[in-house]
Amino acid sequence: MRALYQPWSDDFLTTKRIRSFQTRVARIMGESRPVSMQLEITNACNFRCLMCPFHGPEKASNRPIGCLQVADYRSLLEQFREMGGTFLIPQGAGESFLHPDIGEMLTIATADMDLDVGLNTNGSHMSDEIIRTILDCGVKEIGFSIDALDPETFHRITGGDLAQVEEGIDLLIARRRERRQRLPLIRVLIVEQAENREEIPEFVSRWISRVDEVVVQALRVEAGRTLGERRKEKRRPCRHLIDTIFVQWDGQMVVCCEDWESVTGVGNVFESSLRELWLGPVMNAYRDAQRRGIWAPPEICRRCDAWAGGVETTIDFGDRVQTASALTRVWRRK
Ligand SMILES: C[S@@+](CC[C@H](N)C(=O)[O-])C[C@H]1O[C@@H](n2cnc3c(N)ncnc32)[C@H](O)[C@@H]1O
Ligand code: SF4
Repeated sequence: MRALYQPWSDDFLTTKRIRSFQTRVARIMGESRPVSMQLEITNACNFRCLMCPFHGPEKASNRPIGCLQVADYRSLLEQFREMGGTFLIPQGAGESFLHPDIGEMLTIATADMDLDVGLNTNGSHMSDEIIRTILDCGVKEIGFSIDALDPETFHRITGGDLAQVEEGIDLLIARRRERRQRLPLIRVLIVEQAENREEIPEFVSRWISRVDEVVVQALRVEAGRTLGERRKEKRRPCRHLIDTIFVQWDGQMVVCCEDWESVTGVGNVFESSLRELWLGPVMNAYRDAQRRGIWAPPEICRRCDAWAGGVETTIDFGDRVQTASALTRVWRRK
């Protein structure tokens, strides 16, 4: 097992780099090798965000709540690694830091499996211990979903306590500084909606002085669809289908994270291997259809705009850069 994460090490030929190079070559040869895996370790959540399709008042999903077991997690990571994957997002339709074994799981991914890890959280469970683990094991990026600047708006949207969440973020920032670590990249995200729209300019300017990145996301109003203008550019095959494996805590593989109700049933990774499903008839049918310009089934693909999202504008403010697409606006500190 590797000891502590070395934030400044620059060893060129790490196995990760080799895997990533092999993946690029394989793709040029027409092979569908995944780069990342979004693995839902739990779909439980302690917040009830208004806009959330999984736990909000108008939730779309009625999936049973549960947790992935550590042994199954390890096995899936081993398979993913063998397939050439390098980036793990241990998150899905819930709050990953509620999983009782989250610390062990982060360490398995980075130290045992040599994977890069990034995830989002509602920030309500940032203890000293978990912050130490995040810093020790070298999580690459962590996004805090904070959907308001004002504590009352925050409580109205999420049901949570903004002061407590900010305390956790401040602690992570302080510990990272004390240890002179560059990573994880710390990001704050807000989903733009009627309740917080007026607060967004102030939200961005306050948070960009504290964290590395601030992201304003468009509200999704149904699976795969935002309220934004329809895209004018010519539709292209979706990267999700070739880049990222999506697996839920109960082993169900779905086509992508836009499948809120889990209707695309690719198969179950506890019954078939990850590779068999990723390269199997269901995923290949979706890929082939999109290559031929057929945007459904599954039905969610027809209305989806998640295939877009490339950077459309870049503005340099000197100390920070803002990039924007139809789906997100991102401010990054230089
Ligand atoms: C479903 S949450 C799961 C991870 C974690 N519980 C969190 O809140 O960050 C993943 C991300 O989806 C965002 N999200 C939730 N509902 C959304 C919606 N209707 N449209 C766009 N993004 C949404 C959340 O703000 C969060 O950044
Ligand atoms: S914290 Fe995340 S998973 Fe929980 S209700 Fe809010 S958006 Fe949904």
